[in-house]
Amino acid sequence: MAEHIRVLLSEDEVDRRIQEIGEQISKDYAGKSVHLVCVLKGGSFFMCELAKRITVPVSLDFMSVSSYGSGTKSSGVVKIVKDLDEPLQGRDVLVVEDIVDSGRTLSYLMEMLRDRRPASLRLCTLLDKPERRVIDVNVDYTGFQIPDQFVVGYGLDYDQRYRNLPYIGIVEFDK
Ligand code: IMP
Ligand code: MG
Repeated sequence: MAEHIRVLLSEDEVDRRIQEIGEQISKDYAGKSVHLVCVLKGGSFFMCELAKRITVPVSLDFMSVSSYGSGTKSSGVVKIVKDLDEPLQGRDVLVVEDIVDSGRTLSYLMEMLRDRRPASLRLCTLLDKPERRVIDVNVDYTGFQIPDQFVVGYGLDYDQRYRNLPYIGIVEFDK
């Protein structure tokens, strides 16, 4: 089935919002450093843009997870495909994600990271679909709340495509 992409959030809108979040994070972490943990692959575009706009000292690490279970529904049991390079103990950790959907992946992941005893642990997501939430997740920084529609761009994919779009779009299927 052919599809096309309708713009939901333009490149300018996304850039402006990331600038605001970067300023907020810089204020909240004043006098400290922030250790950004990027959840691959979706969080990578957002993390790079965000990191450029944070004015306190920043360090970066990356992890890749996959949900156990079949089909499109995440089971909430997360397998670490690539773990972080460095320990989190004593650090002010900010997890950077592309989107919080059901909340299954993130609630599991945040618990797992908390066990590594960071000094603080917060979550920043570019997008949030609150209507879809099944498990409560405490989100500290949100770019945009969006309706329950499948989106791509800025790191988000449909079948591994469209991650490189510089805006957020909705996938629409042609009849
Ligand atoms: P959940 O919160 O455990 O349901 O899973 C969230 C993950 O599902 C995200 O990290 C994305 O990889 C993926 N996801 C959820 N909604 C979308 C979407 O609209 N477009 C692309 N990927 C999505
Ligand atoms: Mg993701």
